[in-house]
Amino acid sequence: MATILAFDVYGTLIDTHGVVDELALRLAVQERSDLAPEFSRRWRDKQLEYSFRRGLMGAYVDFARCTREALEFTDRALQTRFSETDKEHLMGVYARLPAFPEAAAALERLVAAGMSCVAFSNGGREAVEGLLEQAGIRECFDDVVSVDEVKRFKPDPAVYAHLRYRLESEPGDTWLISSNAFDVIGARHAGLHAAWVRRSPDAPFDPWGIDPDLTVPDLDALAERLA
Ligand code: LAC
Repeated sequence: MATILAFDVYGTLIDTHGVVDELALRLAVQERSDLAPEFSRRWRDKQLEYSFRRGLMGAYVDFARCTREALEFTDRALQTRFSETDKEHLMGVYARLPAFPEAAAALERLVAAGMSCVAFSNGGREAVEGLLEQAGIRECFDDVVSVDEVKRFKPDPAVYAHLRYRLESEPGDTWLISSNAFDVIGARHAGLHAAWVRRSPDAPFDPWGIDPDLTVPDLDALAERLA
């Protein structure tokens, strides 16, 4: 059976910090443009925290709601006082975030080498389809698998089991590709292979003794190793 590569979406294929310029523009009226990178980081961290907490509580909601509520929280925490129009606009930008610059060429190379690529995300199917489409990389993927199909969030073992069920794959043939260490550990814990895309050279990996099979700095290097 062909090797299947299941790509995490936010942070791995799609740059969640692609919203920084829009944030800076909106913060400029308060003369706080410098805050944009920190706002973006805290927004993303809170979004993930909300997904983890909702998972533990058994209170699943669409990932977009975690994103919206994390935006609201970050706005309160940093006292940026964005208007409702600003927040709606920022959510719109989040729905059109860019792919990382090397993603398209790396994916094309992996597909040309006979790999089957799928997108596997906490995001809802429609949101992910839309993101990949506007980023110009949708055609590289055979399928989109969303956690919404099981109403649990990563790294619940149920979502990795569901991925394998959807792909009809054996654990040994299935790789998760993710920049999110918690996702890599979740996949390894569930018996899948996993590659960690260490987008920042200073990023530490969680010292749990559950390590990635492969660590690469970006998707170019992944294609170099696997294609
Ligand atoms: C995703 C989140 C984890 O795309 O970034 O699944």
